[in-house]
Amino acid sequence: MHVRQPAEMVAIVDFGAQYAQLIARRVREEHVYCEIFPHDAPWEEIAARNPSAYILTGGPESVLVPGAPHLDRHILQSAKPILGICYGMQELAFASGGTVVPGTTREYGRAELSVDGAQSLLFLDVPGHSQVWMSHGDTVTKLPPGFIKLAHTPTCAVAAFGNPAAKQFGVQFHPEVRHTEHGRTILRNFLRKVAGLHGQWEMSSFVDSAVADIQTRLGGAKAICALSGGVDSAVAATLVARAIGDRLTCIFVDHGLLREHEAEQVVTAFRDVVHLNLIAVDARRRFLDALAGVEDPEEKRKIIGREFIQIFEEHARAIPGVEFLVQGTLYPDVIESKTPQSKSAAKIKTHHNVGGLPEDMALKLIEPLRLLFKDEVRRLGLELGLSQQIVNRQPFPGPGLAVRVLGAIDEERLRVVRRADAIAREEIERAGGERPWQYFAVLTPLRSVGVMGDFRTYGNMVAIRAVTSDDGMTADWALLPPAVLQKISIRIVNEIPEVNRVVYDVTSKPPATIEWE
Ligand code: XMP
Repeated sequence: MHVRQPAEMVAIVDFGAQYAQLIARRVREEHVYCEIFPHDAPWEEIAARNPSAYILTGGPESVLVPGAPHLDRHILQSAKPILGICYGMQELAFASGGTVVPGTTREYGRAELSVDGAQSLLFLDVPGHSQVWMSHGDTVTKLPPGFIKLAHTPTCAVAAFGNPAAKQFGVQFHPEVRHTEHGRTILRNFLRKVAGLHGQWEMSSFVDSAVADIQTRLGGAKAICALSGGVDSAVAATLVARAIGDRLTCIFVDHGLLREHEAEQVVTAFRDVVHLNLIAVDARRRFLDALAGVEDPEEKRKIIGREFIQIFEEHARAIPGVEFLVQGTLYPDVIESKTPQSKSAAKIKTHHNVGGLPEDMALKLIEPLRLLFKDEVRRLGLELGLSQQIVNRQPFPGPGLAVRVLGAIDEERLRVVRRADAIAREEIERAGGERPWQYFAVLTPLRSVGVMGDFRTYGNMVAIRAVTSDDGMTADWALLPPAVLQKISIRIVNEIPEVNRVVYDVTSKPPATIEWE
């Protein structure tokens, strides 16, 4: 389901950039709605969205190589403002009759930009000299007709150009990355000054149009949603409930693999505060039985996924007349599923997603967040009245603590990891400052010798994992203050008799992963 598109929209044409999503986020941070299209998207698909302006991204190819991706002529002929970035600039030059030549060396990293066209709208409020981030091989050597040079660096004669009459501009550097000092100003200038956009993309207006669209699509039909406690399903459910009230039933399956007090918190937050029509299923015993003696992580994931779907279906089928299934799919998932290279990536872990449900029930999907990024979903959640606690929840794997108790799980081991995890989180949060992306405890299958009072102990080893990350794809271990680690260690060993040793995981991803299983 596409939620109605705002009046102003920028189409980002992706030539295979590493940074396409980052460009999209930057544009939305300027309160301008945008969508990413692959460079070979059919023109009708792009035209149907009636873009107000275009941004052409960078890409790994050279415009000079046969078979390189090229700009759809319709975009040039549309008379709409265009900003080409890196490859996008070269392609703009190439397509408009300029000359692009292969560089002798690849320029990569920081460079000093000197602005030649200070009066240009694109460089308004940008100092004459500043730092930019470059990553290119080819360069533009002859400007296309109607274009003027706007900036250079010591090694790149044309680092920015523009045709002000046609509202077409190109920058050889990356304005979207943090290392480009005035990148945001340049992007903002393009959106506001060049393209004349107003920047009125706000979450409050999104709520109104999304609610209206959901009402139109669903009519009087009923919908169901699997609530995991995670932010995506929480926001999706709350938004749909805003539109259809009690005709949405949310099903929360407590698999017993949640963190301390989490199941009660989810039920209270959604039933008593947001007033969702909620069925809470206590399936703790069933999951424990199904997982008994299972050591292999992928096997655990399979069992949890299978049991979850079965339980969800059992309860969903008991509600008469349900036609729709609500899922909290986000924009990065939508883009990802369109990107061919993601399909060839080796499978490291099956990330079973509790939304991926049930095929044979013939339910129609409703995905009200499919055009939003995570930070926008968080803002939307707050707009809908969800608490900071739910909206700013750290990512938590669908199989929960099952992949944080290494090897076979049982009630006892879950209790130990749950308590250790609660202590670790409490101390990290108490310390203040910027919180890591994820921080938690793992119960290892190792036992080691210790001494407590005058007695020998032979107890369990708990590992603490805390990582910084932007998207979970790569991560670095967090430099937690030693005093925080000390406090966590002392408390865990003192408060949990089964544990006599605490270690801190100092491995990045890659080569490790964030979770231990
Ligand atoms: P890894 O361990 O692969 O984790 O570095 C990357 C991110 O994904 C989360 N994760 C999962 N999420 N089902 C999920 O829904 C899973 O099976 C699963 N395994 C890992 C992990 O917490 C991190 O945020």
